[in-house]
Parts: sequence; C-alpha cells; structure tokens
Amino acid sequence: MKPLLQALNGQTLERPPIWLMRQAGRYLPEYRELRAKAKDFIALCMDPELATEVTLQPVRRFGMDGAILFADILLIPHALGQTVAFEAGEGPRLEPIRDAAGLAKLSDAKAAQTLAPVMETVKRVRAALSPETTLIGFAGAPWTVATYMIEGRGKTEYENCRSMMWTEPKLFRTLIDMLVRATADYLIAQVDAGAEALQIFDSWAGAVPAPLFHLAVTEPTARVVKAVRARHPDIPIIGFPRGAGSHLGPYAEQTGVNAVGVDHFTALAFASHAVPKTVALQGNLDPILLLEGGDAMERDARRIVGAMQGRPFIFNLGHGVMQPTPPEHVARLVDIVKDR
Ligand code: CP3
Repeated sequence: MKPLLQALNGQTLERPPIWLMRQAGRYLPEYRELRAKAKDFIALCMDPELATEVTLQPVRRFGMDGAILFADILLIPHALGQTVAFEAGEGPRLEPIRDAAGLAKLSDAKAAQTLAPVMETVKRVRAALSPETTLIGFAGAPWTVATYMIEGRGKTEYENCRSMMWTEPKLFRTLIDMLVRATADYLIAQVDAGAEALQIFDSWAGAVPAPLFHLAVTEPTARVVKAVRARHPDIPIIGFPRGAGSHLGPYAEQTGVNAVGVDHFTALAFASHAVPKTVALQGNLDPILLLEGGDAMERDARRIVGAMQGRPFIFNLGHGVMQPTPPEHVARLVDIVKDR
C-alpha cells in the first residue's frame, strides 16, 4: 500500500509520509510560468491540462508522498452561481451574501457541470502518478467556505458570520445545508474520478465562538463525511480544523475522519492525547520555519518526527506554504523527514 494510505489506515511507519498544504503555487517559478498562460485563477483551475501540470510540479520536484489536486475551495461558491474573483495581491473577492434574497440567487442545478473540468484533472493526475504517490482530493469545509460567501473576502474578524449565526440561525443553517450537499457531491465526484484520499480544509474553524463550534464546524463536517462514506465507505478523509484548540478531540471523534490536521499553535502532546490513537495526526511545522530554513527548521522538523514516533502520522505544515518560501528549503525538509 502507498505510504500515505498506510498512515491514513492507522499504521505507524518508520518514516512518516510527507506532503505540504499549498505545495503548488506562486513560490514555484514553474507555477508562475504556467499561471501567466491562464486568463485568470479560476480559468487555471478549470483547465485540466494546466491544472494537471501544476498539481504534478511539486511532486516531481520534491518527491512528495501526496499530490494534492490543484483547485480551490472557492470553486464551490463559483459553481453555486456566486460571483468570485481573485484580484492580484488582494486575495478573493465575492459578492457577499447576507440575507435570504442573496441566498435565493444560489442554485446547485449546474454545479456538477461547472465542476466537470476538475474531475478531468483528477483523472489525468491519477493516470500520471507513480505507484507510490497518493492523490488527495479536497474541498473547503462548509463553515470556511461560508465565511468567504458571507464576508465577501478573507482576512476579516468574521463579524457578519458571527452575527448571522447568533441572530439568524435559520438563514445560516440554510446556507450550511446547501454547502454540505454541494461539498459532499463534489468530493464524491472526485473519488469517482480517482482521488484516493480527501482533505476537508476548515481554515477558519478558529474564528467560531466556542458555544457554536459544534453547530458550525463539527456537525456539518460530520454530515459531509457521512454522505461521502455512504458512496465510498473506505475513502480516507483528513479533517483540518485550523485553530480548533480544545475542540480537537471532540472534532476527531464526532466527525469520523481518519486523520486530523494539527496547526502550529497546537502542542503535538495535546493533540496526541486528545485524538484517539486510531486516528492519524498530520502537521504541524510552522510555515515560517520553512520560509527561513536552516538549523531552526531542521531542528524542529526532527523534533516533530521524534515526537510522533509510535503513532500514525503524516508530516505537513501547520498551514500552507508561504509565497516567499525558497523551493530549496522544501527540498531540504523532505530530505530531513525521509532521513536522507
Ligand atoms: O497546492 C495545493 O495545496 C493545491 C491547491 C490549493 C489552492 N488553494 C491553490 C491556490 C488548495 C488546497 C487551496 C485551498 C484554499 N484556498 C484554502 C484552504 C487552505 C488555506 O490556505 O487555509 C483557502 C482558505 C483558499 C482560498 C484562497 N484561494 C485564498 C484566500 C486565496 C488567495 C490567497 C493567495 O495565496 O493568493 C486563494 C488563491 C489561490 N489558491 C492561489 C493558489 C495557488 C493563488 C492564486 C494565484 O496564483 O494568483
């Protein structure tokens, strides 16, 4: 079995498998070159030829154990009919949804058709991968995707989301329910097309007020997992509730994921204790250490590998690769983790 799939199946390996969140992207010169050929970022995601190549770039260059599909969590709002644009240097911009009238404009009728090119990418990547490398499909978790849909952008304090959750629970629930269905269908289609594992990115889980964490994060994720498993009972699923803190244990148990991504603000000793031993951990090097490289990175990477001996573990960062990261640091990190 492929090393990444072994870890996801609860096996403890001598050296952990490694892949990195946002391992494809602007820190790679070969990405920037292809990016310039596409009309815009969404067009790049929807071009199977270019998206396949971008997915494979970091796998080829570094020998990653996992290839993460090149796409974006915001393809779901796009497929539901919301206007999504990526402005250079500004991050995503969406036409915000704040009321029932905004929500009523969305429809999942054409979602599968809009997302069909992504499935073609999955097929092509799977056919091109070496027998050792695992193809990871992904989607954003309903909560994290909802934050972009409601706020209209990233990097906020989520005031509109938090207000809606507290004061208009029905409206919030309707949006989350729509996202649960669309996300499950999207992930099922990725597995149908050849994805061998899935990751659910809940990058803004840490922004949810504690009394609402179950409602906004754990419960919708559990429904996505259940719906995917109804069609693909054995597909391994990684949940990444970034910033979950003390909710990590209940999240792992109640969502039924096979692995939990741990951010760099969470002590591995805590995660190891909070999460059942049958559930793999994934993480959690500080992306700044990858940017800086050198002794500090090497020491901390070795500490993480050492601390995770004896339990199923996948080496990763605590969040995505940062744009100014020198690719040589990534190559060095892979060597350290693989003990080369
Ligand atoms: O290599 C990979 O990990 C696969 C591809 C991937 C992208 N986005 C490509 C991308 C994945 C898995 C994502 C997930 C994603 N997208 C998340 C969850 C992970 C996280 O970082 O928290 C989120 C929150 C998004 C939403 C998103 N997409 C933002 C906030 C941005 C703008 C920020 C930025 O880096 O510019 C994007 C755009 C984006 N997604 C880029 C890439 C390579 C850069 C766009 C470009 O090339 O112009």
